[in-house]
Amino acid sequence: MDKIVMKGGQELHGEVQASGAKNAALPILASALLADGTSTYRNVPDLADVATMLKVLRTMGCDAERLTARKKDVCEVGVNGHIHPEAPYELVKTMRASVLVLGPLVARFGRARVSMPGGCAIGARPIDQHLKGLKALGADIHLTEGYVEARAKQLKGGTVNFDVITVTGTENVLMAAVLAKGRTIMENCAREPEIEELARVLNKMGAKIEGAGTSVITVEGVDGLKPVDHAILPDRIEAGTLLVAAAISGGNVLVKHAVPEHLEAVVDKLREAGCTITAEGGGLRCKAPRTLNSVNITTTEHPGFPTDMQAQLMALMCVSQGTSVISENIFENRFMHVPELHRLGADITIQGHTAVVKGVKGLSGAPVMATDLRASASLILAGLRAEGRTEVSRVYHLDRGYERLERKLRSLGADIRRVKAKA
Ligand code: EPU
Repeated sequence: MDKIVMKGGQELHGEVQASGAKNAALPILASALLADGTSTYRNVPDLADVATMLKVLRTMGCDAERLTARKKDVCEVGVNGHIHPEAPYELVKTMRASVLVLGPLVARFGRARVSMPGGCAIGARPIDQHLKGLKALGADIHLTEGYVEARAKQLKGGTVNFDVITVTGTENVLMAAVLAKGRTIMENCAREPEIEELARVLNKMGAKIEGAGTSVITVEGVDGLKPVDHAILPDRIEAGTLLVAAAISGGNVLVKHAVPEHLEAVVDKLREAGCTITAEGGGLRCKAPRTLNSVNITTTEHPGFPTDMQAQLMALMCVSQGTSVISENIFENRFMHVPELHRLGADITIQGHTAVVKGVKGLSGAPVMATDLRASASLILAGLRAEGRTEVSRVYHLDRGYERLERKLRSLGADIRRVKAKA
């Protein structure tokens, strides 16, 4: 297994660019199933999760590939001929987002067999709301042998009121509703920019969707869709992570392609912590203050503070002046980075879904273990500040959602490298 080895203490300076958004790329790749022909996606980040989604699509009989040679950020998905509408356990267990093929498959091919994702490190993460939505559109759903089996000759528009706000649930039902007969009204939807982006792509394919990005989405079903050519929006969580890297290192960095409107809650907290954040050249610049202030954070659905930035802000709070209270309200087990941050000298106490972080004067490097994607980012951020050598193992978690993070940080002056596992 690869490791990240780093020495803390370098201020980061310069410019770096955010890649395409993982959480937009995954549903968008799945949406290729909705049309015959070949769709082309640009600015697709080169990540393990994207490779898994391409594999899921290939397993079903699609031609799904990342173009090599010069256009590395381009993926093509061809849906031509026979599709075997099944996502097997072996793939779904490595990436829960594989469940995003469920909506498109049942809408387009009338049936789907998709392994139930099961729990994951950060929480139980049920998919009851995905199934509730598909049922409301007329799908007949059974759970057998660990698989969701969905069937519908023709989905019919209906009203779906989500009991829980869910990102991939909203996306799955939206992708089904575009080919349902008649009008669908989706209420209590997630409002993330990635949902707006998915709707943008579906509308380019010929769908009729209004309201994406608000809590009520209306869809007029259409008879068919055509393939699309689309460049995926930048990753707001990667951009936010790079802003925190600038802040924790005491540096001054321009993150190109960071979209200010997508990062308002994060920028607000960084400003409250004392950072100077300015929009510049199609991105955001973060200039760290001499001393960081502690700020309180409560994760909520978009446009609130994102759970996917909680671990990174916690790393920052570890070296801020004062006490910070961090409440995690989306996932029940998303504090696994805490024991690892303790190894670096952090002072954090967990009480239920709240972590109390007392800022310390300094962190000191140590071997630590990544437990999930955002936890791995938080350990690398802490390592930028820790005195001495930090070694982060299990970086396959990092590679699921960050495109060559260590190279980006090195280009800004960090002393960081990847040690490849021996073959
Ligand atoms: N939930 C239910 N029932 C459902 C669906 C969700 O109870 O049917 C609950 C979940 O257990 C959780 C809450 O609702 O407590 C929110 O979960 P949501 O469904 O919104 O999460 P998700 O769609 O599985 C996406 C992102 C996550 C991100 C969350 C929250 C993708 C592929 N994944 O997951 O991204 O944390 O939304 O914003 O879009 C990451 O990138 O590190 C990551 C985990």
